[in-house]
Amino acid sequence: MATALAGTGRPTISYREVLEKDTRPTPPLMREQTLDMELERIPASRYTSPEFFKREVEKVWFKTWQYVCREEHVPNVGDTHVYELLNKQVIVTRQADGSLKAMQNVCLHRGRKLVTQGGCKQQFRCPYHGLTWNIDGSFKENPFGWDFPQIDAKNFPLPEIRLETWAGFVFINFDKDAEPLLDQLAPMPEHFAHWRIEDCTMVAHVGKIVPANWKATCEAFIESHHVFTTHPQLNPTNGYESCQYDVLSDHVTRFMNPSGMTPTVYHEQLDEEQRIQRMFRTSGRMGDDKPMDPEPGMTARSYAGAVSRQLLENETGRDFQEACDADLVDGISYDFFPNFHLWGGLRDKICYRFRPVGLDPNQTFMEVMLFRIAPKDGPKPAPAAFNMLGPDDPWSSATELAFLASVYDQDQSNMGPVQEGLRALGDEGVIHFSQYMEVRCRHLHHMVDVYLNR
Ligand code: FES
Ligand SMILES: [Fe+2]
Repeated sequence: MATALAGTGRPTISYREVLEKDTRPTPPLMREQTLDMELERIPASRYTSPEFFKREVEKVWFKTWQYVCREEHVPNVGDTHVYELLNKQVIVTRQADGSLKAMQNVCLHRGRKLVTQGGCKQQFRCPYHGLTWNIDGSFKENPFGWDFPQIDAKNFPLPEIRLETWAGFVFINFDKDAEPLLDQLAPMPEHFAHWRIEDCTMVAHVGKIVPANWKATCEAFIESHHVFTTHPQLNPTNGYESCQYDVLSDHVTRFMNPSGMTPTVYHEQLDEEQRIQRMFRTSGRMGDDKPMDPEPGMTARSYAGAVSRQLLENETGRDFQEACDADLVDGISYDFFPNFHLWGGLRDKICYRFRPVGLDPNQTFMEVMLFRIAPKDGPKPAPAAFNMLGPDDPWSSATELAFLASVYDQDQSNMGPVQEGLRALGDEGVIHFSQYMEVRCRHLHHMVDVYLNR
């Protein structure tokens, strides 16, 4: 990595120039920070080879921080969340002192998965022969202890796994020597404080198995390059040619994609009034039934900003008069290596988690969560129930995802064919990422290599 890059040669203005025209000053965190990286060709086998995947499992997946659940999923003592990653089984349990503990979810007798369903537990009793552990992981009892002279009941705890939290997100790491979560997450905590992440609540949670490698799946959500072809309905007001891509640290990258602009590649050029019409009536991004009364001279961005500012104030009872247009209308996507993606901004915070399924390099368990700033008064609402879609259920059957649901069907339509194509390329095949718009994809592979070479 070397010099600043910033999309040299793009056919339109930069994101910085977009922000300069907005109605309010923008926070310093939006400054450009992209770093250039080597333009390497990527072997297709990185997505398909079982051997490569096996190395990723050991060196990447078991060495990085993994988002498990929200603190609100386990509010009370004994509340337990069951989590799986590859072949690992984990429980996260609220302790008597209010802290959280992650433990291996495997009975130490003959290896049965100890807890099959989450919920509030008094103890963990194995359903096979009844060996029992306390919720803090210490051993409690064995109905046939007399026949296990080799087991020291005072020293037979469930193995503990590292757990750390940020803004209500609970993370674990199987690597006892990993850097602290907050060190690796930087600068996300600082940036997301601006977007009031601590006040957010999860309002939707949907998952589906996707027939593609985890990296191919992640890559579909870290560039807006594909919007032109994959999501044509978004073209009239999606300024992806001005999108800013930043590598913020080893583990954190982002894009900031302006709304309310028409790309030069779109077949029609629109004036501001037409853009306002399209933004509100066509894209679904702003809802369908908002008042159409922009003041003279308003741009699509400033009008969308004003409408969003008002909606957000109405929804939450909080003050957003200072919030800049970008905070309210742009697509601001961060990812934390390897698989946790969180959108900034003040409305519609999308969160993705991508996990390989079992030990198969060709499948990914993709989850979409939506977060919203909770109303100022009253208790925070409980997190949304999880909606697991079956193999034949389209994303559009998840109505809680609103206009995004059909966008994910469009994304998913690429997944299987991408994986099939990568398999067809075989051991000798390579793929090509673009210099700027796909810098996050290149960085993803760069970080995989960093971990594989450790
Ligand atoms: S396997 Fe758990 S008690 Fe026997
Ligand atoms: Fe997409």
